[in-house]
Amino acid sequence: MKSADMKGILLAGGSGSRLYPLTRVVSKQLQPVYDKPMIYYPLTVLIAAGIREVCVITTPEDLPRFRQLLGDGTAWGIRIEYREQRQPRGIAEAFLIAEDFIASSNTALILGDNLFFGGDAFPRAVAEFQEGALVFAYHVQNPRDYGVVEFDAEGRAVSLEEKPATPRSNYAVPGVYLYDARASAIARALAPSARGELEITDLNREYLRQGKLQVRRLSRGTAWLDAGTSSSLHEASAYVQTIEKRQGMKLGCPEEAALRRGFISLDDFETLASAMPPCEYRDSLRAVSAEVRRVGVVGA
Ligand code: TTP
Repeated sequence: MKSADMKGILLAGGSGSRLYPLTRVVSKQLQPVYDKPMIYYPLTVLIAAGIREVCVITTPEDLPRFRQLLGDGTAWGIRIEYREQRQPRGIAEAFLIAEDFIASSNTALILGDNLFFGGDAFPRAVAEFQEGALVFAYHVQNPRDYGVVEFDAEGRAVSLEEKPATPRSNYAVPGVYLYDARASAIARALAPSARGELEITDLNREYLRQGKLQVRRLSRGTAWLDAGTSSSLHEASAYVQTIEKRQGMKLGCPEEAALRRGFISLDDFETLASAMPPCEYRDSLRAVSAEVRRVGVVGA
């Protein structure tokens, strides 16, 4: 199966309670990460990996605002559908909510508050993925806050635990995952955890039990940030500002990712920029189009 056939689920519900009162009126995934709404970043990750069909799952209250922001995806040469998650009953519930959207496709699930920068591990995994499930492992200082994967001496994953009190390694599982079409059926058979959620770690554990889970380590040069607390949100903004200022290029820009993947033409791209008010974001799109006119669509 090619990446063009893989579908994407962008999970942007939850309660965002750790960011209260920021999230009293505005959803976490609509908050700014430096110069753009948080959801632009994971959406850009999906587009840059060649995924053209995306289902955004969010709360009934927030759904109209996400639709207002992202539309149906036509502007970016993709298709975006929306589904409601009425209560935050866990990340794995996405596979029940989006079952009809998934149909018989392989799926990439990405969390709306997880930010990934650098490296080509994800697009490569999407292009290579065949069956089973594929997750990543990322060395962190605070594994207790995450799903934790343990490796044996040969580097094979041997256990997965959700937020363990005594982690067996420093390798956390970031919020981007690939699954074959069996994910919905497996999620349906999961029992809710003690906190009443369908746990993504339980879904991954079932693939592991069946010998169908690939775990790929992300190199230390890759940045994985989550933006779920005030300080991590602030750090994510500072990270984006630092890199953008140094490089003079934007991170998390869906228009640019769509252009570089060939989802939209340079003319379409320029039309999108022209429809924007004068702002840094528009200036940066114009700089991209000038460069592409000069040297063609290279890199990403
Ligand atoms: P979390 O950060 O674990 O939960 P939350 O967003 O509700 O925030 P808090 O803990 O501060 O109350 O969720 C990780 C991501 O997954 C985030 O993008 C929200 C999303 N999510 C859902 O969309 N539905 C869910 O049921 C859960 C548990 C998470």
